[in-house]
Amino acid sequence: TKRYSITLLPGDGIGPEVISVAKNVLKLAGSLEGIEFSFQEMPMGGAALDLTGVPLPEETLSTAQRADAVLLGAIGGYKWDKKEKHLKPETGLLQLREGLKVFANLRPATVLPQLVDSSTLKKDVAEGVDLMVVRELTGGIYFGKPRGFGTNEKGEDIGFNTEVYSTHEASMLWRKRVTAIASEYPDVELSHMYVDNAAMQLVRYPKQFDTIVTNNIFGDILSDEASMITGSIGMLPSASLGESGPGLFEPIHGSAPDIAGQDKANPLATILSAAMLLKYGLGEANAANRIENAVLDTLNRGFRTGDIYSTGNKLVGCKEMGEEVLKSVDSPVPTA
Ligand code: NAD
Ligand code: IPM
Ligand code: MN
Repeated sequence: TKRYSITLLPGDGIGPEVISVAKNVLKLAGSLEGIEFSFQEMPMGGAALDLTGVPLPEETLSTAQRADAVLLGAIGGYKWDKKEKHLKPETGLLQLREGLKVFANLRPATVLPQLVDSSTLKKDVAEGVDLMVVRELTGGIYFGKPRGFGTNEKGEDIGFNTEVYSTHEASMLWRKRVTAIASEYPDVELSHMYVDNAAMQLVRYPKQFDTIVTNNIFGDILSDEASMITGSIGMLPSASLGESGPGLFEPIHGSAPDIAGQDKANPLATILSAAMLLKYGLGEANAANRIENAVLDTLNRGFRTGDIYSTGNKLVGCKEMGEEVLKSVDSPVPTA
């Protein structure tokens, strides 16, 4: 048996609901491939604030740094929205990404044939979309200095952030760097697009995109937009990788306070993040495929959470969706 240690960070809102489901799926898929996990569940975000006074306790970060991979639910919620910036759950998440040095965030958006009707776009526009947003994750306006509050010449209050990128992170240097690197990969066709046009093109003709490489804040926005083409933000996973050390795997959605505690959350984004954890984080492609196939099989069998529901399907909650995925992992039905 192979053994891996996984740090679980359930976080806030629907985070704990989707993590508990994804953990079981990860365990089962692993066991069928001779893999055993030891899980360390650590507080993070608002939950950590309440418990320890900070959104990313040192022990949470150091445990995550020692793990083979980290699986995060989501953080944040109304309760902590008025906290000072350095105490916000969101700040804890940024500190975690920085602390793990995971600068490359992969956010695949694939329109599954089973969910074409869940897309808000017309069928012929949405079907066949299979793109990857590669988002820079540890630079840009999220981390740039100076930032803060002050007063201008007229005595008005001002707030300011700094969008700053160095060469290895790119952005303003983007076109130059990317073009230089592209010359080493002649089989990759490169084109440049302004982000406003890209946002428009994504809903006009999304099939034109294969891979979108972009900075931190644009990647955040474009990936939420891309998620809706696939049917729901509840479907999109992500992998955040660095040069070395554990990767961080999380759904692209947030803590969804509007549906938290009601067993309504779609756990598939987190389950698919667990598949990315196996594939990109541990190099366990077979176990990852088991999970991906199980998700397709569960959708083929008609199970849908509210966010992807359409007439004729079986409406289930978060837990039941998890149970059905477990059944599909256990006795896989081959998918074409
Ligand atoms: P959100 O992604 O939490 O929710 C946006 C909408 O999508 C809501 O209507 C929600 O119900 C729905 N939704 C999200 N995930 C879903 C799922 N799995 N199944 C079904 N529906 C789902 O974004 P928001 O409302 O802007 O933010 C809420 C909180 O989450 C804020 O505190 C924000 O800072 C935080 N947030 C955290 C992360 C993260 O942890 N990575 C990401 C985004 C937002
Ligand atoms: C995400 C979120 C975070 C981000 C927030 C909560 C800081 O939107 O993970 O996509 O902007 O990176
Ligand atoms: Mn986001």
